[in-house]
Amino acid sequence: MTIRKVGVLGAGLMGSGIAQTAAASGFEVTVVEVSDELVRKGLGGIEKSLAKFAEKGTITPAQKDETMARLRGVTELKELADADIIIEAIIENPDVKRETYQKLDGLCRPETIFASNTSSLSITEMMTATSPERRRRFIGMHFFNPVPLMKLVEVVRTIVTDEAVYEEAVRLGEAFGKTVVRTSDSTGFIVNRLLVPYLLDAIRAFEGGLGSITDIDNAMKLGCGHPMGPLTLSDFVGLDTMYHIANIMFDEFREQRFAPPPLLRRMVLAGMYGRKSGRGFYDYGDPKNPQPVKLI
Ligand code: 3HC
Repeated sequence: MTIRKVGVLGAGLMGSGIAQTAAASGFEVTVVEVSDELVRKGLGGIEKSLAKFAEKGTITPAQKDETMARLRGVTELKELADADIIIEAIIENPDVKRETYQKLDGLCRPETIFASNTSSLSITEMMTATSPERRRRFIGMHFFNPVPLMKLVEVVRTIVTDEAVYEEAVRLGEAFGKTVVRTSDSTGFIVNRLLVPYLLDAIRAFEGGLGSITDIDNAMKLGCGHPMGPLTLSDFVGLDTMYHIANIMFDEFREQRFAPPPLLRRMVLAGMYGRKSGRGFYDYGDPKNPQPVKLI
């Protein structure tokens, strides 16, 4: 493994989870955000998460401190110049991503690997913002929320990815303690290709009167052993995020199963984004005891 220094772009929920996981696995991590305040918020979230693991005895207090010491938060892209790999987890906007990759391409060493954590945008499209040499060193590494707890990473190749670069990314995923699944650059990769239609169907089932919010969630939780029911999971992912992903997948495949249901659109328009906004299919006024919302 030649990777030692990991750059993480974005310290939101996914970026900070990736940075934490990389630092906890022994890598030197530089995480970039657009402002000092967002850097502080990202690092603060990581510290809280590590404190929880330390409280539970999953890690020692010394391991928590060592992990924090391997993390550096900055606001300038140029601080990523000496990274061996950059894992990008910024806003899911293709124009912003392309612009960022173009800048990074000029700043980083020719060997630096570029990896996007996008959930549904095309890796190939992002890759074309960089030079022909870099395109062979461009992959997807798609993690799952909450990153420190979820055991999977999808490692995504394009039709021009260099085989050795791909294998290096697979080894990195494993060094992060994740199980790697190998896949190619097809919208939604494996997980979202299967998960998104399922979650959208659950919303359609609720809209169609098949059952209450609680009954639909209990049905899948207790009937199939899922850790969360589909409406709880939709709130957890974020209804705005789901709506965005569904639209991208529908545009790509033109299949009805990816079309966002009308209720989802209305909830997003009304600012009901799920757990992050305090209300979605459930009200999170008391986060330990979410209550189903009356929607229809
Ligand atoms: N760091 C440290 N601890 C954390 C944490 C974090 N980031 N997140 C949660 N925990 C802790 C909780 O606080 C809790 O601690 P406690 O026992 O002291 O209260 C503990 O982990 C267990 O959490 P829960 O009590 O909520 O119990 P669960 O057993 O339900 O575990 C879960 C939580 C792992 C999130 C589990 O519910 C789960 O696996 N849910 C499904 C998540 C999922 O499917 N994620 C993928 C979403 S799709 C995606 O990300 C792709 C994107 O492209 C859309």
